[in-house]
Amino acid sequence: MKNIVGSPARGESFFPRNREIGSIISRLDDGNNLNIAAPRRIGKTSILFHLLDDSVGDYIYVYIDTEAVDNEADFFKKILKEITKVEEISKSGKLKSLFSAGHKFLGKIKSIKIAGQGIDFVETAHKEIDYREDLNNLLSGIELEGDRQLVLLIDEFPQTIQNIVDAGKGDITAARQFLQSTRALRLDPVINSKIRFIFTGSIGLNHTVAEINCSAFVNDLNSVEVSDLAREDALTLLDKLLLYKKLHVKPALAEYLLGKLEWLIPFHIQLAVQEISLQPINSGEITKADIDKAFESIIQARNNNHFDHYYSRMKRRFKGEEFRFANEILEKLSVDGSFSKAQIIDLAAKYDLEERWRIIVEILEYDGYISLINGTNTFRFNSPIVRMWWQRYICK
Ligand SMILES: Nc1ncnc2c1ncn2[C@@H]1O[C@H](COP(=O)(O)OP(=O)(O)O)[C@@H](O)[C@H]1O
Ligand SMILES: [Mg+2]
Repeated sequence: MKNIVGSPARGESFFPRNREIGSIISRLDDGNNLNIAAPRRIGKTSILFHLLDDSVGDYIYVYIDTEAVDNEADFFKKILKEITKVEEISKSGKLKSLFSAGHKFLGKIKSIKIAGQGIDFVETAHKEIDYREDLNNLLSGIELEGDRQLVLLIDEFPQTIQNIVDAGKGDITAARQFLQSTRALRLDPVINSKIRFIFTGSIGLNHTVAEINCSAFVNDLNSVEVSDLAREDALTLLDKLLLYKKLHVKPALAEYLLGKLEWLIPFHIQLAVQEISLQPINSGEITKADIDKAFESIIQARNNNHFDHYYSRMKRRFKGEEFRFANEILEKLSVDGSFSKAQIIDLAAKYDLEERWRIIVEILEYDGYISLINGTNTFRFNSPIVRMWWQRYICK
């Protein structure tokens, strides 16, 4: 298996995640709309691409990345455009006939025209096109060959909400309206009977909407969690990546390597393999010293782009005292290795954050920075690699 580090895994490079995929398909089959909730870099986008590339469960998937979108009209326009790029839709004779026959919903759509064997999106300068209305009509009227159902994969949705909040400069009316519109779209009885939605993103949806008191607008979504890999799966992935590089590691040393990683996400296994394979390995057999050296180099500056986001995201997410509080927790954790809840509460008092500390700690947990040590009230960095990086580049 090729070791492509950083970009979402596709095709042959995708390591199976049967538990997550099974759970997604069974919930879709039951008629749910989903929110895939998990920290960044855990493999959410890779899962979406896998559903798309393999048409898992025989759905027709449309992938839409809305990270750069900062207003409602552009959001709906982007979805319309991406839907009409999918061949099963743009070249559908059945859909074309419905359009030609002046179907009661499809006939009202202004931004799509009949073209060739099927349909096409038309880019116009007309401000008066109501893309929400158009999308509503398309999703209400769409019928495809074999009655296959459509699943819209909306990646970076919470970032879109945050962009709209930021554009409002303190006025959250537009963000509320946006959440209301997207909810109305999902829950429209005609649409709901045939279109499924999967939302995900690098920032947590629940916290993003809670901050603007809009949790009620997403409470119809069913949450699917993606966690790190089970140990056997992590070992299999490690072997597959090494095999491609013609390298081998003895079982005890593979365990040693996973022990050092602790947080067994595919991304960190890829990083370890990359750093191991950059060294000269004697007759392809990896030693303990090779592993130790690789770990040292994972956090070298050339890999900063893989970790920078932990810090930059925190700076964007928290302001003033909240930022200083979160930063001090992480600084203490990176140096001392652990930090108890009691210590956090003391620290919160220093920053006057008695009311807010809980939510800040929750965000750090949710976003994959920290986690409780099993069965205790003490936190640690989720990943020793991120901890080492933090110590080297962020601590003063
Ligand atoms: N199932 C998988 N198989 C192989 N590599 C994966 C898998 N899931 C994630 N990765 C790797 O982890 C990194 C982050 O994946 P990505 O899907 O972008 O995560 P997210 O969307 O959660 O931030 C990429 O380098 C990707 O190749
Ligand atoms: Mg992603």
